[in-house]
Amino acid sequence: MAQDKLWGGRFSQPTDKFVEEFTASIAFDQRMYRYDIQGSIAHARMLAKQSIISAADAEQIISGLEGILADIEAENFDFKVSLEDIHMNIEARLIERIGPVGGKLHTARSRNDQVALDVRLYLRDELQAIAVYLDALQQALLDQAEANLAVIMPGYTHLQTAQPVLFAHHLLAYYEMFRRDAGRLADVAKRLDELPLGAGALAGTTFPIDREYVAEQLGFAGVTRNSLDTVSDRDFAIEFCAAASILMMHLSRLSEELILWSSADFNFVELSDAFCTGSSIMPQKKNPDVPELVRGKTGRVYGNLMSLLTLMKSLPLAYNKDMQEDKEPLFDTIDTVKGSLKIFADMIAKLRVKAENMRTAAARGYSTATDVADYVVRKGLPFRQAHEVVGKTVRYCVETGKDIPELSLAEFQQFSPLIEADIYDFVTLEASVNARRATGGTAREAVEREIRRARQERQAKS
Ligand code: ARG
Repeated sequence: MAQDKLWGGRFSQPTDKFVEEFTASIAFDQRMYRYDIQGSIAHARMLAKQSIISAADAEQIISGLEGILADIEAENFDFKVSLEDIHMNIEARLIERIGPVGGKLHTARSRNDQVALDVRLYLRDELQAIAVYLDALQQALLDQAEANLAVIMPGYTHLQTAQPVLFAHHLLAYYEMFRRDAGRLADVAKRLDELPLGAGALAGTTFPIDREYVAEQLGFAGVTRNSLDTVSDRDFAIEFCAAASILMMHLSRLSEELILWSSADFNFVELSDAFCTGSSIMPQKKNPDVPELVRGKTGRVYGNLMSLLTLMKSLPLAYNKDMQEDKEPLFDTIDTVKGSLKIFADMIAKLRVKAENMRTAAARGYSTATDVADYVVRKGLPFRQAHEVVGKTVRYCVETGKDIPELSLAEFQQFSPLIEADIYDFVTLEASVNARRATGGTAREAVEREIRRARQERQAKS
């Protein structure tokens, strides 16, 4: 052998040093070590069960692998760039530890199906971790909603005051988005749930393996059905990055609102000091760094999705080395989503709500104009005419500097004789909000119903 390579037999010259570095993935794929070892142990057990290797050899291999796992966890393992990736680093170390019998581990297997397995196992665990963080954020939103059920804020369209809504209703809008995100991530986990090992390099293997047995050991629901597809499929990673992109888009929108709301101009909420920084020059400033960064990091998660889609778009079957480039975007997405969710759950839980300011803002901007229109519609006027009546009323308010609830009955009646003294029961903020009682509306009773429902759904899940 011209070098320490496990595949060195065919080669007469060593790899160029820079080429070695350029082609290596050990710097980033070492984070999958646990899954590589877990997969190898299951594989070795199967080889013995099928009498492809002896039980004694399997035992040696397995205890060797367990020793390596302990070494890596104890940070007592020297990852070598010359050994290219995590798979060969571990295999080479195994042979070093237990001798030539270690070389039997790779029977009936290829790095192509091995890496497909490792990435799936890794992502499967990370999906669970992400689900826990996402759940904590949903919990924080529900708690804040419940704690602020009496708080009314302006609801916006076009960022113009539209109609008053409960702050709790606004928070629950995000709860819904994250509920769908959780569903999408659970879907990713479902489709990921097939064992790739056994596909070999691309065509399957000549050894009498038992894939179902390996699947069972590793907790997969089944096995993949086509070896060529198995070693060239990265759909699961792309699907995850797509679901993560949507999730980050939601976090980014919430970030944007928190940034607006915590500005002096809105002044609706205050972020805890723990999530802000000061300015090096302007002493009065408290910058919403965390939501700004989450908004910014959304861009890199989108970028990762684009990287993976572009990486895969023209690859012929089956494995191509290009696919080694799948890991960094995937890992970066996992880290970014986890970090963002973790920090957000805490930030939402510690949000200080400035109820009075929200209420004052909600009362501005003629936010109950639609309620006056609905009122005259109930008295029999077609909605289009009602719209006209209230349009004129608002213009009068603008000209006279009055707000809708401040108009006298005579002033109201200039615009429609249908308006009577009970109009004042409909134009307060509370009346406006609480009139929207149908499922999904902002009335307090409707919002309380949704909080209860969400809590029940969560209880049923856990
Ligand atoms: N490090 C490689 C990757 O991440 C492992 C598979 C290598 N297979 C090969 N035929 N060179 O894709």
